[in-house]
Amino acid sequence: MNIRSIASAGNQFIRNCISAAGAEPEYVHRKRIHLAKKIHTAGDYKEWLSAFHSEMKPRTYLEIGVADGATLALVRPETNAVGVDPDPKIKNELLCSTRLFKTSSDDFFLKNKIETLVGGKADLVFIDGLHEFKQVIRDVANAGNNAKDNAVILVHDVLPVDQKSASPKRKTLHWPGDVYKAVAFIKRKMPALNLDFINAYPTGLAVITGCGSAEFDTLNQGVSEENLREFENLSVEDYYSSHISEAMRISGTAEPIQDTVVRLLSDRVGTRFD
Ligand SMILES: C[S@@+](CC[C@H](N)C(=O)[O-])C[C@H]1O[C@@H](n2cnc3c(N)ncnc32)[C@H](O)[C@@H]1O
Repeated sequence: MNIRSIASAGNQFIRNCISAAGAEPEYVHRKRIHLAKKIHTAGDYKEWLSAFHSEMKPRTYLEIGVADGATLALVRPETNAVGVDPDPKIKNELLCSTRLFKTSSDDFFLKNKIETLVGGKADLVFIDGLHEFKQVIRDVANAGNNAKDNAVILVHDVLPVDQKSASPKRKTLHWPGDVYKAVAFIKRKMPALNLDFINAYPTGLAVITGCGSAEFDTLNQGVSEENLREFENLSVEDYYSSHISEAMRISGTAEPIQDTVVRLLSDRVGTRFD
């Protein structure tokens, strides 16, 4: 190998290290994921989602942002599922009856009601679509309007590990985006809702309950520029110091995930779903 081919191989290596998400070297991505593993020790978010499915045995399930179907594949055969994604690429085997809508969540909610599609409002919702602040507020508001009083709404990516990956516009391979601002906004504007936080890998889960006592339309109406401004500039650091303290989060314990989910459901919705 001559010096020119070594240099060319080196350049190719560097090019390969730059992620398609936007000029971030692969090693920076790996460092972030390593950090997420160290901080979020409560188990993988899919294990939690799976535990909610097996404990609640929901009749109806709504998922916003399905991608390759990895989380839709966790849905039990007896559940009627609705999935929404403008660009679904289902590769996983789905065990349940699923109606898939190839569109944005805004468009989906404009034209559909879960009740009409699957014969009842949603028991369990997983929000994991576009990771932008205002979009997540709309997704929670619209999901809430389509959910039963004792429903559980899970929101993914609410505990980012750094500011860069929590940018409103994608700059990193792993991109929780600024979902965290939506959670801070909802927590402040809708005190009737219960919000629990799980230190799930990679970037956390929020568990929203108390849907029956909440007016989700006020959330949609509250999305005025003026109301949002305070949250628009919220940094990840201020979010953790002023909104979501460590004490508020469910961390990894010796207790199995399933037992924590049973306790959480009994505390928050007071119902065994089976
Ligand atoms: C992080 S992926 C979902 C991953 C999946 N829930 C899982 O855990 O395996 C986000 C998905 O949201 C979809 N998405 C983007 N914008 C959306 C929107 N406005 N409404 C619904 N889904 C959207 C993307 O196409 C992408 O497939």
